[in-house]
Amino acid sequence: MSRIVLAPMEGLADDVLRAVLTAAGGYDWCVTEFVRVTTTLLPHSCFTRLSPELKTGSRTASGTPVRIQLLGSDPARMAANAAHLALLDPFGIDLNFGCPTPLVNRNRGGAALLDEPELLQRIAGAVRAAVPPAIPVTAKMRLGIEDTGRALDCALALEAGGVQELVVHARTKADGYRPLVRWEWIARIGEVVRLPLIANGEVWTVADYHRIRAATGCDDVMLGRGAVADPLLARRIRAGGDPDPSAADWDEIRAMIGIFWSRVQAKVTPTQSPGRLKQWLGMMQRNYPQAERLFREIREARRAEEVSAGLARLGIRCERDAAIATT
Ligand SMILES: Cc1cc2nc3c(=O)[nH]c(=O)nc-3n(C[C@H](O)[C@H](O)[C@H](O)COP(=O)(O)O)c2cc1C
Repeated sequence: MSRIVLAPMEGLADDVLRAVLTAAGGYDWCVTEFVRVTTTLLPHSCFTRLSPELKTGSRTASGTPVRIQLLGSDPARMAANAAHLALLDPFGIDLNFGCPTPLVNRNRGGAALLDEPELLQRIAGAVRAAVPPAIPVTAKMRLGIEDTGRALDCALALEAGGVQELVVHARTKADGYRPLVRWEWIARIGEVVRLPLIANGEVWTVADYHRIRAATGCDDVMLGRGAVADPLLARRIRAGGDPDPSAADWDEIRAMIGIFWSRVQAKVTPTQSPGRLKQWLGMMQRNYPQAERLFREIREARRAEEVSAGLARLGIRCERDAAIATT
């Protein structure tokens, strides 16, 4: 059975959006935004703040498991923090070797480590040894920093370090998020490693999903921005029916927006919340003209109550929380 995973997306797919997207169905698990491990032992509150799902069996309200992602470069500190996190019984611990952000990379984290496969192996090995065997340790990597020269070495190093599954985002750090994507490199990695690979990068539609599987030979696929731009994408893939977003889908998405909006307001300040909804609507415009209409309605809104008024004008009610678990 092929698996579909919701990607970690810092500043975008927080617990609120994870809850809404996984409630729509189709995901086997999701991954949190990264937690940065530096010099200290992070308190449990740091993990539960990022992943409140840890308090509910490491699952979203609809029951989708959640893995927690760690980012760092020091094997011993990563291991100590992973062991501390393991006490909260996460569904899995994922290691980030893909983040291209300059601030993170300057501190030797994320994709900046991709020219040091031996370090990748030490980090993976130290974390694996520190965490009870029942908790999967997985990793997510890009193909390299400037080029793909060490992509195979990195994947082999992570396998040797003991990671159980590997997500490959088919770009180098230098590629950033340019549309060019190197799916063929996932296939090449698949020829040299034995561990399960999960293909990731530029899957926006059902057709892309089939293309990435054919190009990479992977059964399993991770969806990132495409999952946000079309909240029903995973379910649409599973259903095997109409492959394109439709006007009928929008009715369901309106309800999702209402739930999202009430949850976001409960979480962030009234001046921060409008940006969160605009961010999501901005991405949905790719698939839904109705999202564009809604975006225009609230574009000038700076405060939560102005957004609520705009949504009400277009007939969107803010659902209360109970609705989300049963959707
Ligand atoms: C806003 C944003 C934040 C991201 N944050 C993370 C992160 O915290 N950890 C990670 O491993 N990847 C992160 N990524 C990368 C995604 O998980 C994914 O690999 C990338 O978006 C490519 O997949 P896509 O083309 O399906 O979006 C992020 C991507 C975006 C767009």
